[in-house]
Amino acid sequence: MELTSALAWLTTCLLLTLTSSTDPQSLISRRNLLGNGLGSTPPMGWSSWNYFNCKIDEATIKQTADALVSTGLAKLGYKYVNIDDCWAESSRDDKGALVPKRTTFPSGIKVLADYVHSKGLKLGIYSDAGFYTCSKEQPGSLGHEEQDAQTFASWGIDFLKYDNCNNDGSRPTLRYPVMTRALMKTKRPIFFNLCEWGDMHPALWGYTVGNSWRTTNDISDTWESMVSRADQNEVYADFARPGGWNDPDMLEVGNGGMTKNEYIVHFSIWAISKSPLVIGCDVRNISKETMEIIANKEVIAVNQDKLGVQAKKVRMEGDWEVWAGPLTHDRIAVLLLNRGAWLTSITAHWEDIGIAPATTFKARDLWKHKTLKPRFTGNLTDSVEAHACKMFILSPVY
Ligand code: GLA
Repeated sequence: MELTSALAWLTTCLLLTLTSSTDPQSLISRRNLLGNGLGSTPPMGWSSWNYFNCKIDEATIKQTADALVSTGLAKLGYKYVNIDDCWAESSRDDKGALVPKRTTFPSGIKVLADYVHSKGLKLGIYSDAGFYTCSKEQPGSLGHEEQDAQTFASWGIDFLKYDNCNNDGSRPTLRYPVMTRALMKTKRPIFFNLCEWGDMHPALWGYTVGNSWRTTNDISDTWESMVSRADQNEVYADFARPGGWNDPDMLEVGNGGMTKNEYIVHFSIWAISKSPLVIGCDVRNISKETMEIIANKEVIAVNQDKLGVQAKKVRMEGDWEVWAGPLTHDRIAVLLLNRGAWLTSITAHWEDIGIAPATTFKARDLWKHKTLKPRFTGNLTDSVEAHACKMFILSPVY
């Protein structure tokens, strides 16, 4: 080879190497760090934390799986049965593996997974991107990611919630992908729920790493806590999409701290925000009132709509707000929310929602299960009680 053509060849090689890190193909493979195909709609299920905290055992998990089936909730889509913190012994075994707590999970997690699977449900588990979980009762997975991911896969785990307590101070953007890779290596599709509480704006990077990401600190069973989580989560609406969802934390519906109307607001906002619908009460003893809320098929359908676009606040006036977001078939989900202490009249204006004012819609009230008689052009007004909401689907009339 002549010197000039050798130089040209070397230059080409160099250029190829330099551009390969930014070419579309490599960007695609980076985006698919978590290519597990899960979460095309927000996950639905149950978790032990909000009601049971650390007081969990295998009988409770099995009875909950039974109850999800017997109440009909499983059929509505609530399929993940998620064991939260406190399921493991405080020390790993001599091979470094996590050990299910002998006193509370004597049969082991695999047996539980088999049981849950036999009911047509899926089993979720919890770990932490630190040295200990938040309860400090069990080890975290930091430094043991591959081993733990293999253990979870060998047990038949379908969902991993990955918390952020007691870590080494490094960034979640560095720590969480280690578990993503470990999960991918197992070849088992495991839904990956990042739980770093919104610390480093996971909405901005979560899609490459997990199927959902907490955007807030822990919810508690009060109106103030619930609406503030809804507000914080709404800021990130543009980042939710099929395969990756903003997570304002698990549901408190049925735990007793809010009124029925407040729980309806809670469930409606979570649904329209395309949040995971993870029940947090004791479904073994669920009340009729709680069932009326979490088993509302029309509201669930908004959450599970295939378009997967999170609703936003489109107008805020004093104590009231209008939330809206698009659905498939040119429909729009609308929420009229009264955060104040008095009955008030709320108007959704088409121009706020981003639709032509001359368009006519019919409106379906998702809590009354009625299609309203009048057709609406330009706006829709309704009265809403204190700490309550109305939720509609608008369908265009052509
Ligand atoms: C953190 C999480 C909670 C729960 C607890 C368990 O606080 O944010 O959702 O998992 O840990 O200890």
